[in-house]
Amino acid sequence: MVFGVIDLKNALIIFGGVSSEHSVSCVSASYVINNVPKDKYNIYKLGITTDGKWYLFEGDSSLLPGDKWLESGKITKAIISPDRNDKGIIVFRENGIENIKIDVVFPVLHGMNGEDGTMQGLLELSGIPFVGCDALSSACCMDKAVTNTLADSAGIPQAKWISTIKEDYLKTKDEFLSKAEDYLCYPIFVKPANAGSSVGISKAADRRTLEEAMEIAFKEDNKVVLEAFVDGYEVECAVLGNYDAQPMTVGQIKPANDFYDYEAKYENDNSELYIPARIPETQQKEVQRLAVKTYKALGCAGLSRVDFFVTKDDGKVMFNEINTLPGFTSISMYPKLCEHSGIPYDELIDRLFTLAMERNRR
Ligand SMILES: Nc1ncnc2c1ncn2[C@@H]1O[C@H](COP(=O)(O)OP(=O)(O)O)[C@@H](O)[C@H]1O
Ligand SMILES: [Mg+2]
Repeated sequence: MVFGVIDLKNALIIFGGVSSEHSVSCVSASYVINNVPKDKYNIYKLGITTDGKWYLFEGDSSLLPGDKWLESGKITKAIISPDRNDKGIIVFRENGIENIKIDVVFPVLHGMNGEDGTMQGLLELSGIPFVGCDALSSACCMDKAVTNTLADSAGIPQAKWISTIKEDYLKTKDEFLSKAEDYLCYPIFVKPANAGSSVGISKAADRRTLEEAMEIAFKEDNKVVLEAFVDGYEVECAVLGNYDAQPMTVGQIKPANDFYDYEAKYENDNSELYIPARIPETQQKEVQRLAVKTYKALGCAGLSRVDFFVTKDDGKVMFNEINTLPGFTSISMYPKLCEHSGIPYDELIDRLFTLAMERNRR
C-alpha cells in the first residue's frame, strides 16, 4: 500500500505590532494559532514589540496575551526578507543566520503599521502569499477620509462628512466650524482619519464640545473626519473571498454607552452582540449586498468586516467603516459571523491561507 506524503506548508503568524491595538493583536493571534489545522501547516510565530523589535518566538502560543512571550527566553531576532528569492524569514541565531522558507503569512495585526498597507507592502516585496488585502486596499481602508471618498464615488450610502488637516483647521478655525455646523448639523461625530478601537472619537453637541472633539482627534492624527450623526442600529457584515467574495451572516452591536466608544468595546460587559442582527431579513440582505459592493469598491481580498448603520426611522442602510484585519479573539465578531454561516474557526483559517495562496498565484 502506498501512502501519499502530506506536504505540510509553513505558515507564519505575525503578532503584536507598534499600534495602540498591540495587546488585542496578541490575543487574536493566540486564537488564530490554536485554530490552524496542524495536519496541514507548520506554524512559525513572529512577534513585533510595541517599540518595533522583531523576534521569532519558539514557545507556546498561550504566552502571547499579556506579552509573556517576551520573557520566555525563546525569542530570537528575525526579519522577513524583502528579497523574493528568500521567500521567508531570516533568523539571527547565535551560531549564524538561518533562512526559513514560508509558504503563507497571516499578519494578525491591527491598526498602524499592521493593517495600513505598510506590512502588506513588505509582504508584496517578499513575494510570500499573505492573508488579507493588498497594500493599496489596506491603506485606503485605514484612512477614513479616503474610504469615504471611495465609498461616495461607488454610490454607497453614508452620512454626510467633511475632513480637514490640522494646519488648515488652525488657520480658518471659526469659518471651518461654522461650515461644519451648517452642513452636518449637531450632533457631529469627530474622528481621527487613521485610528481604530474608537480611540480619539467624540460626539459633539455644540460649538464648545465640537472644538474639544477636534482637539482630541488631532492628538491621534493630523487628519480628522467629521460626520453627521446617524440614528441607527449598528450592524456588521463579514466578507470572505477574493474575486468571488461572499457575505456572511449580519451581526449587530448594542453598545453599552451612548455610542460604541473604547469603554463600551473593551471594558463594559453590558455591550451586547446579536447574531443574526435583529433587523428584518430584507434589511439584512441589503447590508450583505452593500458589504460586498463596498469590499469590491475598495479592492479588498481575503477578508474584511464591513460596518453599517440601519436607520431607526426608515430602515435605510448606511455605510460606517471597513476593517481589513478585524479582531480574531474568541469573542470577535468576524469569526463568529463566519461560524454562524457554517464556517468553523479552523476551517476559516485554512480558507484564508488558501485564498492567500490562490491570489498570489494569479
Ligand atoms: N456618523 C455616525 N453616527 C452615529 N454613530 C457613529 C457615527 N460614526 C461613528 N459612530 C459611533 O462611533 C463608533 C466608532 O466609530 P468608527 O467609525 O466605527 O471608528 P473605529 O474605527 O474606531 O471603530 C461606532 O461604532 C459608532 O458607535
Ligand atoms: Mg468601528
